[in-house]
Amino acid sequence: MEKSTKRNSFKGSIGFVLAAAGSAVGLGNIWRFPYLAAKDGGGMFLAVYIILALTFGFTLLITEVAIGRKTKQSPLTAYGKLHSKWKGLGIIACIVPVIILPYYCVIGGWVIKYLLVYLTGNGVNAAKDGYFTGFISGQAEPIIMMLIFLFAVVFVVFRGVNKGIESLSKILMPILLLFVVIIAVFSLTISHTDDNGVTRTGMEGFGIYVIPDFNGMTYQSFMNVLVDAMGQLFYSLSVAMGIMITYGSYVHDDANLKSSINQIEIFDTVVAFLAGVMIIPAVYTFAGTEGMEASGPGLMFVTLPRVFEAMGGIGHIVACLFFIMVLFAALTSAVSIMEAVVSSFMDKFNITRTKATTVETVIAIIVGLLVCLGYNALYFEMPLPNGSTAQILDIMDYTSNNILMPIVAIGTCILIGWIVKPKLVIDEVEKTGVKMGRKKLFVVMIKFVAPILLAILFLKSILP
Ligand code: PHE
Repeated sequence: MEKSTKRNSFKGSIGFVLAAAGSAVGLGNIWRFPYLAAKDGGGMFLAVYIILALTFGFTLLITEVAIGRKTKQSPLTAYGKLHSKWKGLGIIACIVPVIILPYYCVIGGWVIKYLLVYLTGNGVNAAKDGYFTGFISGQAEPIIMMLIFLFAVVFVVFRGVNKGIESLSKILMPILLLFVVIIAVFSLTISHTDDNGVTRTGMEGFGIYVIPDFNGMTYQSFMNVLVDAMGQLFYSLSVAMGIMITYGSYVHDDANLKSSINQIEIFDTVVAFLAGVMIIPAVYTFAGTEGMEASGPGLMFVTLPRVFEAMGGIGHIVACLFFIMVLFAALTSAVSIMEAVVSSFMDKFNITRTKATTVETVIAIIVGLLVCLGYNALYFEMPLPNGSTAQILDIMDYTSNNILMPIVAIGTCILIGWIVKPKLVIDEVEKTGVKMGRKKLFVVMIKFVAPILLAILFLKSILP
């Protein structure tokens, strides 16, 4: 069912690029990329990541954006429009953001809490043992913070594509980049002597980050680097969850897709790289190599508050900048997640933005409450196939990232590569008269390399 009203679109390609980069730059860039780079031999990981971004990442991203622009539909209906037998893939692609939004908002709430702690001058508490677990297992606070974050997201999505998403991204993304650069430069200038009289500097930490470490490199460990880099890239570009299809559907027919895709990838990779320059030297200087073993919430909410504390007075200012920056990154990502669902509901059921947003907000609140209670009244421990123990949040994260997203991505490659044929994407990109370039590479990637790499990733993440 087509809507009679005209579809919204981004005013200009800068708006599109910043909105898509806002989606791509998220928690993953900050709490996972630096950790993987440090673990996987520094420069070695960076090199593999960049090569994959230019090939595998480019293929997935341009495919989704082109599907969106060609069909002018969001994921729930876009796949069916390409091929009537592939409607099901659209449903899975739309379920992914429905699952992700609630727990992303819970984590967004944690970021708000830490920002408030530092803004009110209570950073010292955040560095204490057990502070983070105490907070997330609390009764009301995590729920209130989640709701504040969610309502900020809802506000933006309510305002629509131009007044909401595009304007927000144009303001937040440049500030985010500026803050990342400031903190990164600061991180390179620090040094610290610990209780044992050992002095470490930010520059040494930077060396660990960028200089390739081939020590003990084997075929097996190289494969691990490859899988890590691929998994990270895949998550980081926000593909396989309908977001880029949705944003693509708002791109003008005369916009140059190829250069926009390149800019989005550059933005995402630069922020990921700078996040490493920000975090690795600081953690190394104040917490040594052992400090670098944490990623995810452990890094952001436990290790880093200790590092900020060890920096002395200036640490609290750096912490404020840091959590504002993280909040911006999380907000623009969460907005894109919600927009993928809202836009899908609008296209499929022909309802207004207000109605679609309201429905998705109610779902997010109910599921978000369950996620919060997962650390409190509903606490349990469940082992996952990858060996970790999980609460509700981890189970949702695992289901979306490790199971559904690879399925959507493999399905998209098969649909485009073999059924509707890569020419559809190439024609969409070239219809404005630009040459797509790397065309042969694109065809080989989408037909063979990407689905095989994705299948390896999928198997690796579901097998113990
Ligand atoms: N791409 C974002 C990141 O790197 C994460 C994200 C996940 C964004 C899911 C939107 C949806 O952190």
